[in-house]
Amino acid sequence: MNVRETLKIDQNGHLEIGGCDAVELAKKFGTPLYVMDEKYIRDMCRVYRDTIEKKYGGNGLVLYASKAFSCMAVYKIAQQENIGVDVVSGGELYTAVKAGFPADKIYMHGNNKLRSELEYALECGVGTIVVDAYSELDMLDGLAEKCGKKQDILLRVNPGVEAHTHHFIQTAKTDSKFGFSLSDGTAEKITEYALGKKNLRLRGYHCHIGSQIFEKQSFRLAADKMMAFMSGMKQKFGFVADKLNLGGGYGIWYTDEDAKISSAQYALYLDAVVDEIKAKAKEYSLDEPYLLIEPGRSIVGEAGVTLYTVGAIKEIPGVKKYVAVDGGMFENPRYALYQAKYTAVLANRMNDKADDVVTVAGKCCESGDIVCANVPLPKAKTGDILAVLSTGAYNYSMASNYNRNPIPPVVLVNEGHADYVVKPQTFEDIVRNDVVPERLR
Ligand code: LLP
Repeated sequence: MNVRETLKIDQNGHLEIGGCDAVELAKKFGTPLYVMDEKYIRDMCRVYRDTIEKKYGGNGLVLYASKAFSCMAVYKIAQQENIGVDVVSGGELYTAVKAGFPADKIYMHGNNKLRSELEYALECGVGTIVVDAYSELDMLDGLAEKCGKKQDILLRVNPGVEAHTHHFIQTAKTDSKFGFSLSDGTAEKITEYALGKKNLRLRGYHCHIGSQIFEKQSFRLAADKMMAFMSGMKQKFGFVADKLNLGGGYGIWYTDEDAKISSAQYALYLDAVVDEIKAKAKEYSLDEPYLLIEPGRSIVGEAGVTLYTVGAIKEIPGVKKYVAVDGGMFENPRYALYQAKYTAVLANRMNDKADDVVTVAGKCCESGDIVCANVPLPKAKTGDILAVLSTGAYNYSMASNYNRNPIPPVVLVNEGHADYVVKPQTFEDIVRNDVVPERLR
């Protein structure tokens, strides 16, 4: 399985995804439209799950990092694929619970969880809470006591691994709002503090070294540092951590500057980590911990394609050509945030030569509203269906109503079927929470 195999060109020269003609999808559901390939998502869940099964004797759990793409259907898929999920807010938790996702397989994250979110997590019976602050430990301990529970927790640790990725999405450098550092002793101190909490059961540690990472070595290094730390905590406090969560971060293909990773190769990432953990467990005479990983982007990223209709085309002689589409930063803010790169195609003319270079602009009122810059494309015409690839992660989940644009719907495709998993927002939805107080009338 490889995502490029799930994207085909049909006999009409149209882009095909999940057995559906993208041009027909655009006609039926309108544009802009997020399209998600169900098979791809399921295949990726299975790749990780099977690797843990085969390489690690099933002593672990894949958690889908649902911040990448959260809606009820995706939690349903995760449930059917027998994996867990990570949630980072009351809203994500609510969505998972509403979809019927088993709470014991939910891990809850957040560097500043609200009291209301912790209360809600306890009420739902969330399996594990990943604690990231002293104040959170105190608050959670108190809340657990109130409801007569002993809550499983992990502590978020910052292993100080520098991963090669865009610095905005690195989370484990020494200067990070996430985690307690191994190097300055704060991880050790919070361990001692957490062990003293009567209503919390410390099970182990979590770390996440960043996102869109391709180097196996970074993951291996993080595993190594975590195992060394766990050995240290056993010696110092007699505390045996039985769970180790190594976060997510595996990179995906956006453009040909990125590696094209097949599912087999994703399994190799996990293999490398498992080998490291096994070796270190032996070296430090530790039991092999229950292993958790939290891939988000690699499960849903390449499953997604966004379809647009080409509108205005503007050529600035000697400078560049703008091809404007009916979407923009409100449905994909990643260029504006990270200068993210994407591959664009014309879904209705896949066999035409890409002999133009254009910047795909959105419809928002600001110059930085770009979907992708300087991409090769056949000469586009108004009315063409433009598709941007690998948009399944952090697009819909980061969408907003900027300029009061409705958030586009999401359609799930599989074997020629296409169904809404998120319905289109209407203008009525946009004003739903607006209030004009009496004194303004
Ligand atoms: N676990 C934790 C604790 C995380 O913070 C993240 C991502 C993940 C797992 C999943 O990482 P993944 O496998 O998706 O790389 N909005 C940015 C990405 C932010 C990632 C934040 N944390 C983007 O659009 O690139």
